[in-house]
Amino acid sequence: MSIISNCTATAIKDATAVLIKGDLVAFPTETVYGLGADATNKDAIARIYKAKGRPVGHPLIVHISSIGNLDKWARDIPDYAVNLARTFWPGPMTLILPRTDLAKDFITGSQDNVGIRVPSHTVALALLKEFEDQGGLGVAAPSANRFGAVSPTTASAVDVELANFLSENDQILDGGSCLVGVESTIIDCTQDQPSILRPGAITREMIDNALNISINLNTLKSETVQIKTAGLLESHYAPKAKVFLSGSTTIGDGFIALNSVATPAGAIRVAAPKTNEEYAQVLYEAFRLADHKGLGRVFVIPPTGGGIAVAINDRLSKSAFAK
Ligand code: TXA
Ligand code: MG
Repeated sequence: MSIISNCTATAIKDATAVLIKGDLVAFPTETVYGLGADATNKDAIARIYKAKGRPVGHPLIVHISSIGNLDKWARDIPDYAVNLARTFWPGPMTLILPRTDLAKDFITGSQDNVGIRVPSHTVALALLKEFEDQGGLGVAAPSANRFGAVSPTTASAVDVELANFLSENDQILDGGSCLVGVESTIIDCTQDQPSILRPGAITREMIDNALNISINLNTLKSETVQIKTAGLLESHYAPKAKVFLSGSTTIGDGFIALNSVATPAGAIRVAAPKTNEEYAQVLYEAFRLADHKGLGRVFVIPPTGGGIAVAINDRLSKSAFAK
């Protein structure tokens, strides 16, 4: 496996060749790093599952370079979904739509729906565009972490997660730190009304504004969600350290809170974001730092309010619930 630190046009062409050959390319998106493979190549997709240690049957998001390619993968697209795509793509939003024949069972986990996203990171877009120019149709990419672990937001975090599980010809493209820091908002667009399956940086308020409706947030009622989403499992987004969202610290515990909250005596501050947006951006690296320092416990003061705080609280409650 090689890490490509300078993503020039030539480097993007080389990475495209890697994908076309059926090997894996981890690449930056604005949310988190993805582990990419040709979404039409069954063997390459099998390698993603193996590298992540992800149980088969968990569907993958297909990444495309523009809304123009959406109907290759999805059919019966409701007007509201077109509206969302036009408003928020390229960007941190995944739409779940009825699939075309192109979206095979090995992508959708045998469901009749497929998840599609147009990311906004320049490196991701360049790679997707070049891949499509070379005849490719889409790049499947789950977050580039081992199953159940924290998503990587830097190339070196991908390296730490997956170095032992990637092969000689695979690549990691380094595009710096991810701006958003938490995974895309997933919106179920298979019903008359959209609903949010996983909150993210495209917030409920933004969706309501775009569509002039009041959208459902379905994530917390996992038993009522028919569609399989790995994020609904318990052991997700978890560092090795035990995460606490309440209680008090003792000496040597990690501590994460907004900058305005003082560090308790004896605790080790691993993040002090100034805003909720920055909170999302640094959270996973803070978890990684806690693990790197060998901390056994991390206390987190969750952000309050709507917007991106909803996504942060969703991930925090899952990382704490995991223990
Ligand atoms: O921000 C993101 O979405 C990142 C970047 C790399 O694009 N990707 C990502 O992929 O988070 P992953 O596989 O780690 O999480 C995607 C979630 C999973 O929980 C999966 O089950 C769900 O999306 N998903 C994918 N396709 C689906 C489908 N057809 N129906 C329901 N859920 C789906
Ligand atoms: Mg993931």
